[in-house]
Amino acid sequence: MSHRPIHLGVNIDHAATLRQARYRGAHASHHAEPDVVAFTREALAGGADGITVHLREDRRHIQDADVLAIAKIPGVRLNLEMACTAAMVAFACQLRPAAVCLVPESREEVTTEGGLDVATQLTRVTETTQALQAAGIEVSLFIGPDARQITAAKATGAPVVELHTGAFANAWKSPAADAELARLHAGCELAHGLGLVVNAGHGINYDNIRSILTLPHLHELNIGHSIVARALFTGIRSAVAEMKSHLVRPA
Ligand code: PXP
Repeated sequence: MSHRPIHLGVNIDHAATLRQARYRGAHASHHAEPDVVAFTREALAGGADGITVHLREDRRHIQDADVLAIAKIPGVRLNLEMACTAAMVAFACQLRPAAVCLVPESREEVTTEGGLDVATQLTRVTETTQALQAAGIEVSLFIGPDARQITAAKATGAPVVELHTGAFANAWKSPAADAELARLHAGCELAHGLGLVVNAGHGINYDNIRSILTLPHLHELNIGHSIVARALFTGIRSAVAEMKSHLVRPA
């Protein structure tokens, strides 16, 4: 039986969360710890296929300078998570990361699943997608595993969806988990059937990954919190390598 590895995108936002807890504003410093770029290099050494950062409008963790420095690391495949705003589109078009994942930031943009509400903002998301694609950036939409959102995502012309696994992760080890996994399964099938590349992320950890790996057609998983949390004990290189070792399954 052949085995097809799933790509691992490591979200390093929470290394910056730790730094910002001490060093921000008047306390910002060149010597601020942890060094997010060094952390990123170690994640890559552990086998990360890509690095994901979310440059939030409130800059609560990752800062502009972090993104610019990470983008300069040789060979890095950078996935920039961002809101659908003109300012962020301008930033991304100048930076030209390999990929952008459009995510909701304000309450009005969020569906019940927690993903981007593409269906009610079709024009805005389509225009944003087109602007990013014109700059040569691969666009992904972070949406709930919901048929309405998946078909809307297809209509925008974005080639990739990242299905929100948060509801499943929250339900993990409860009676509701099977139903959430079934919804993700149906979402993966629908998106793949429409010709979309299927990624997934949010709340995935070293335990629930076993169930996530039963989902069909997965191309990439974006995982942040659990890997950074484990890195406190093992170091990020080892934490990434361990998660990466799980991401092989029967093709
Ligand atoms: N994918 C997207 C689009 C996200 O916004 C996040 C959280 O920042 C993740 C994946 C990673 O989630 P977690 O940190 O729970 O692994």
